[in-house]
Amino acid sequence: MKKQNLVILISGAGSNMQAIVQAARRDDWEGRFGARVAAVISNRADAPGLAWAASQGVATHALDHRAYASREDFDAALAALVDGHDPALLVLAGFMRILTPGFVGRYEGRMLNIHPSLLPAFPGLHTHRRAIEAGCAFAGSTVHRVTTELDLGPILGQAVVPVLPSDTPEALAARVLSQEHLLYPRVLADLLSKM
Ligand code: GAR
Repeated sequence: MKKQNLVILISGAGSNMQAIVQAARRDDWEGRFGARVAAVISNRADAPGLAWAASQGVATHALDHRAYASREDFDAALAALVDGHDPALLVLAGFMRILTPGFVGRYEGRMLNIHPSLLPAFPGLHTHRRAIEAGCAFAGSTVHRVTTELDLGPILGQAVVPVLPSDTPEALAARVLSQEHLLYPRVLADLLSKM
C-alpha cells in the first residue's frame, strides 16, 4: 500500500517532528503508521529541527516570513511549498506563526496542531507559567484540528502530567514535552488508520 505523505511545519527545535519522523520510519509502529514525512518546512532558516531533518534525508525548506509584505503573501508561498508534497495531513509541530483564514480553509480537516496545555484551558502563549500560577494540579498537551479559532479546534488527543509543588515553567515544559513525543505519533497513527 502506498504510504500517505505528511508535511510538518516547525519554527524551532523540532523535537515533536523528530518523534514523528522516527515513528513513521518504524513500519511496525503500532502496526499502522501508514505515512512518511515528505517534507519539513520552517519559517526560520536557523531552526535546529531543520538541520536535523536534512541530516536524516528528509526534504527541507526554509521560508522566512520576514521576506513577505503580508501574512497573505507568506501563506500563499507556504501553501505552494506544502502542495508540492501532496500531503494527506499537514502537521504543525511548534510552528509559531498565526495562519490566515484562507490558509486554514485550504487545509480544513487535514491540518493538526499540538498545543502545550489541556485545551480549552490556556490557549495562546506562556501556558506552563499560567498553569502553575492558576494552581492547576495537572497540566499537559493537546493535539487538535486547526480551525480559524486560535488553539480551539476539535480535540483529537491529550496527554496529562502532574504539576509538582516545586515546578518552574521550564521543569513543567520538559515534563509535558516528553509526553508530547508519545502523544503526537499516537494521534497521527490513529487518524491515518481511519483515512
Ligand atoms: C511544543 O511543546 C509544542 O506543544 C509547542 O511548542 C513546543 C515545540 O517544541 N507549541 C506551541 O506552543 C504552539 N502554540 P518542539 O519544537 O521541540 O517540537
